[in-house]
Amino acid sequence: MKHIVILTGAGISAESGLGTFRDTDGLWTKYDLNEVATPEGFARNPEMVQAFYNARRENCLGAKPNAAHVALARLQADFPGRLTIVTQNVDNLHERGGSTGVIHMHGEMLSALCSACGHQWPWEGTMGMEDSCASCAATGTVRPDVVWFGEMPYHMDRIYAELAACDVFVAIGTSGQVYPAAGFVSEARGAGAETVEINLEASDNSGIFTRQILGPASETVPAWVDELLAAAE
Ligand code: OAD
Repeated sequence: MKHIVILTGAGISAESGLGTFRDTDGLWTKYDLNEVATPEGFARNPEMVQAFYNARRENCLGAKPNAAHVALARLQADFPGRLTIVTQNVDNLHERGGSTGVIHMHGEMLSALCSACGHQWPWEGTMGMEDSCASCAATGTVRPDVVWFGEMPYHMDRIYAELAACDVFVAIGTSGQVYPAAGFVSEARGAGAETVEINLEASDNSGIFTRQILGPASETVPAWVDELLAAAE
């Protein structure tokens, strides 16, 4: 049974209107990631960090999955092998596009985390320092359940086990600049997998991939899924 691991990044959600990080109009050109995406930044100015994620959460709730998210859900439903979707994205567009079991290695914007007791629970509205934990009732400890720079991404043991056992690794819409995700292609290659990059343009990691498909994800991903499902018939 063929096993495919797919890693997605901000580029898959770009055509849904959610900004990427490092493109010319990306989030990290407008905000200092040290201020809004590190534990130190949160400790310095929690209200500003909460406001940043409140705005992103609202954008996420207003966005719709695009043809690339929907195509991956179709692949998940119809592929006669094993398919693992790992995303760096903190939006929920894979799930709203119909995918299940998506591994959110950088956490989820629509989840809260209590920094006192570690409890995680769904969160859709505005979040602030006056909110209290749904489990331990502590106040001032509720934060977005997203992985910040300097923190350990989630589910890494499981992801490395999937990479070691996959036949095909596909990276979609990611610049390949943030580790550990940027190293997944080398792990998969080391395990003997075919490696495919699907991106708007060649990324920093392009040379490591065995195949490259360039163009907007809403077009390239459905076409790649059609090709894969036709070959599997
Ligand atoms: P980046 O913003 O670094 O890269 C997005 C990639 O998507 C770029 O290579 C673009 O060329 C590509 N892209 C843009 N529009 C596209 C489209 N319509 N179709 C296909 N590709 C497109 O985003 P990530 O690689 O996801 O982490 O960033 C990785 C991590 O860095 C994020 O998870 C986040 C960020 O800091 C944390 O916050 C911890």
